[in-house]
Amino acid sequence: VSGVASSMDPFRLVEQHLQRLAAEVLQAVAVDHPVLQRAAQYFFELPGKRLRPAVVLLMAQATCLQSLGTVSHAQLQLAMITEMIHTASLLHDDVIDESNMRRSASTVNALFGNQLAVLAGDFLLARASVCLAQLRDCDVVELLSRVIEHLVQGEVLQLNDPGPEHARNGRSPNTPDDWPTFHAYMRKTWYKTASLIANSCRAVTLLNPVSRNQPQIVHAAAHYGDHLGLAFQLVDDAMDYSISSSNMGKPANKDLMQGTITAPVLLAAEGPANVDALELHRAWQRRDKERVAELVRKGLGVEKTLALAAEHAREAQNALVAPSTAADGISSAGALPPSPARDALCHLCE
Ligand code: FPP
Ligand code: MG
Ligand code: MG
Repeated sequence: VSGVASSMDPFRLVEQHLQRLAAEVLQAVAVDHPVLQRAAQYFFELPGKRLRPAVVLLMAQATCLQSLGTVSHAQLQLAMITEMIHTASLLHDDVIDESNMRRSASTVNALFGNQLAVLAGDFLLARASVCLAQLRDCDVVELLSRVIEHLVQGEVLQLNDPGPEHARNGRSPNTPDDWPTFHAYMRKTWYKTASLIANSCRAVTLLNPVSRNQPQIVHAAAHYGDHLGLAFQLVDDAMDYSISSSNMGKPANKDLMQGTITAPVLLAAEGPANVDALELHRAWQRRDKERVAELVRKGLGVEKTLALAAEHAREAQNALVAPSTAADGISSAGALPPSPARDALCHLCE
């Protein structure tokens, strides 16, 4: 998208709000049980990207039509709730994935054990629900409650892919036909990752009485979140095959080791330079990490995944800055008014 300075830091615009959020979230999860409190506060005290709250806050600024750049207290609370739900899902995810490293630090399950990690995740969801109810907006409560449902559905869809032994019930998939279709993979990805971002973007526009009554603004925000979320998870899945554990701050190659079939594998067997699907499938069945990695490399699995992520990132940008499709150059409806926050949201897609 032209006109966006490539050197700008999209987080800078909402830095003060993020600092306030960091303090408020510790209050929101405070409890008079020291171990539960330490487990619940753990990830909020580690440095992280804070991508989701930053997106929600920037969307609040970009859709405040009466005074661009403004964020209400309810919208700040929503950004915090989004991060609380995300963090709860990570506590549970690290138990499911038996992961011991995240954000270059030990996971909660590694430090406190699985039982406390699950309960701390439940506790975060409970406190997020209290904060959500305090917004006194039933539509927003419904949207974020659906997100929690979607996170669970995404995770269960992933468990039921033919890969993980524990979910196969003795079925032994032995042809590539048993693999999830690319459509099924993308659907799972939307549930697992994009729903939280999209529904939080939609919800933040509902918390402003002016944007709430502008369906095209509400839709543009959600559409942006859908595609940014898909792009984000595609990149995450590509990194699993291309970046070392120390550079990611979490275990690499875990999708292969856990039998989770993701885009780099599915796309290596499709399109230009594709490798033989049956050979890839057999190597996958043997958990022959070296051979799968080699076939993914030969089939350009990472490159194709990143190219698809770039398409979704562009689609996210287009949702906010609708391209001038008409011959007269007048841009179509649905775009947000120009603002530094809109530029920052576009820049995040880069
Ligand atoms: C990270 O994916 C995990 C998710 C995006 C969703 C996890 C959802 C659940 C565990 C369902 C329960 C939800 C709640 C709200 C308690 P990943 O494992 O691919 O990524 P990683 O590399 O960061 O571990
Ligand atoms: Mg994981
Ligand atoms: Mg997982």
